[in-house]
Amino acid sequence: MSQRTMQAHYEPNWKLTQARNLRGYNCGYAAKRGNETFDEHQQSLVWQLLGDTPITSDSVVLDVGCGIGGPSGWIFDRYQPKQLLGLEYLGTSVKAASRRFNGAAKRPRFIQGDAHKLPLSDNQVDVIFNLESALHYADKNAFIGECLRVLKPGGTLCLGDVTTTRKLMFAPIEWLNKLPSQFNSNVHLWSAVDYKNAFRKHGFALLHHEDAAQPVSDALEDGLDEIRGDGFFSSWKATKGFRGRVGFLSVMSKMLRRHWLHYDLFRAKKPS
Ligand SMILES: C[S@@+](CC[C@H](N)C(=O)[O-])C[C@H]1O[C@@H](n2cnc3c(N)ncnc32)[C@H](O)[C@@H]1O
Repeated sequence: MSQRTMQAHYEPNWKLTQARNLRGYNCGYAAKRGNETFDEHQQSLVWQLLGDTPITSDSVVLDVGCGIGGPSGWIFDRYQPKQLLGLEYLGTSVKAASRRFNGAAKRPRFIQGDAHKLPLSDNQVDVIFNLESALHYADKNAFIGECLRVLKPGGTLCLGDVTTTRKLMFAPIEWLNKLPSQFNSNVHLWSAVDYKNAFRKHGFALLHHEDAAQPVSDALEDGLDEIRGDGFFSSWKATKGFRGRVGFLSVMSKMLRRHWLHYDLFRAKKPS
């Protein structure tokens, strides 16, 4: 996987988060439309994915694909775990995440790394948090195997992702991925059934599964209203990349509504 393609993919996202003062790169979760800001929706998605997962002051939490560190920071502030490590593929995002906590004595730590090969020893982690990142992993089985390896017995994997049931529709994306890395899409979607089968194959016990397409689409619609509402979107300051990203989110929301795309939340446990 190429850093350059991934960087290009996240450049407009970075512009959007900067312009809107956001801290996450995810689509958000709205239990009800219009009752929260988009920043709050992004936090709600984190709590919805974690559910009742136990995190205590003794816990070690690993946030894989942590982006610019919003979710890691929210989890750290709420639970004060012994250690929270954010792992992220893009060096620029690792820097942005670290900057957020400059000077804080107690804080999450961020490192550059690849989800396909986690730089941790076996049986070390209580909770792995993985939000809207696995869609980029070409070999999700390798990632799930790595999760099993680094989790302590009884540890939990919380995985939320954009999914599909329409293999055919995404065939062009998979085809694009065969092109040289500077042209490919770096998106490899699985269905919820693919995930469930993989968890079972690797020996995880599925604790929870939720189809979250509707609340995620509602959060995106609230976010789009917010973005377009304050005049920035139509001002000269909004770049082509920024507008393109907003257009992409709008298409994504419509696809979720029409069930052409799905969004699933899973919690799975490594046997004790
Ligand atoms: C949609 S963002 C979500 C970020 C964060 N989880 C959040 O909710 O704000 C997906 C992130 O996964 C990262 N990513 C993609 N492939 C990765 C890999 N193989 N290993 C680690 N991180 C990866 C991307 O660089 C990006 O920051």
